[in-house]
Amino acid sequence: MDSDLPDLDNLRAVAVLVATEAAELAAEKQVVAGEQVRTKSSRTDVVTAVDTAVEELLRRRLAELRPSDSVLGEEAGLSATDSSAGDGQQLRWVVDPIDGTVNFLYGIPWYAVSVAVVRGAETLAGAVVEPASGRVWSASLGGGATVDGRPLAVSGAEELSLALVSTGFGYQAERRGRQGALAASLLSEVRDIRRFGSAALDLCAVAAGWCDGYYEHAINHWDWAAGALIATEAGAVVHPPDPAAPFGNAIVAATPGIVVPLTEVLVALGAETV
Ligand code: IPD
Ligand code: CA
Repeated sequence: MDSDLPDLDNLRAVAVLVATEAAELAAEKQVVAGEQVRTKSSRTDVVTAVDTAVEELLRRRLAELRPSDSVLGEEAGLSATDSSAGDGQQLRWVVDPIDGTVNFLYGIPWYAVSVAVVRGAETLAGAVVEPASGRVWSASLGGGATVDGRPLAVSGAEELSLALVSTGFGYQAERRGRQGALAASLLSEVRDIRRFGSAALDLCAVAAGWCDGYYEHAINHWDWAAGALIATEAGAVVHPPDPAAPFGNAIVAATPGIVVPLTEVLVALGAETV
């Protein structure tokens, strides 16, 4: 770990604060299905007026609290002040205003605001806050992970055939077909599969031992940045997405006892070409 780290407790507190304020706004503005919706990358990839309003709030609060840092958000992209590609020292906040937008749209309470702060390839702190339950997940690098202040720890699963594994599917029809085929093949190798609908919360679920592992191809940084740190700090092994990985450009996060067999089986089932 870099000795020149900024105050990680403070960064974690900022992540929790802005994610909690954003979650309050999202909860107030729960939309009626079908209203205030436009589509993004495909007709099923929706953005609600609430996604936009929540991201605006996050950007405004981060500008007030952390004026020197930049912001990368799902809806408005990278802020003009970003210079983190330069000397790699600028902090960047990576935010997803509502992860689990489709759940949100249908009134399913499993969605969250995700806020992480990164420097270069390292995630320093993060928070995932669920508007419906008010649950607050957070972590800082080397500082552990908690939910509502209670320490998190991954499950002790050691056998892939007894493991509960979650996954997700992107919005592009072609890739979804390949993702579905991989999940279908994986079904006979594990206890069962879950598709909860929020990557950030899939990672928190691994952190809590509610699932033994999670994998998903082609997700965006804002989907996984905070959740991956929370899972790592709870004891999970996390492989961030890497196009050169033998299991393709997927994130894989799992309790240590099953991570090797899980990645091996993904490779054997052709995950590289998903
Ligand atoms: C999506 C969710 C979903 C995952 C998709 C993501 P969004 O994010 O995290 O679980 O499977 O890949 O795009 O659109 O709800 O913010
Ligand atoms: Ca997302």
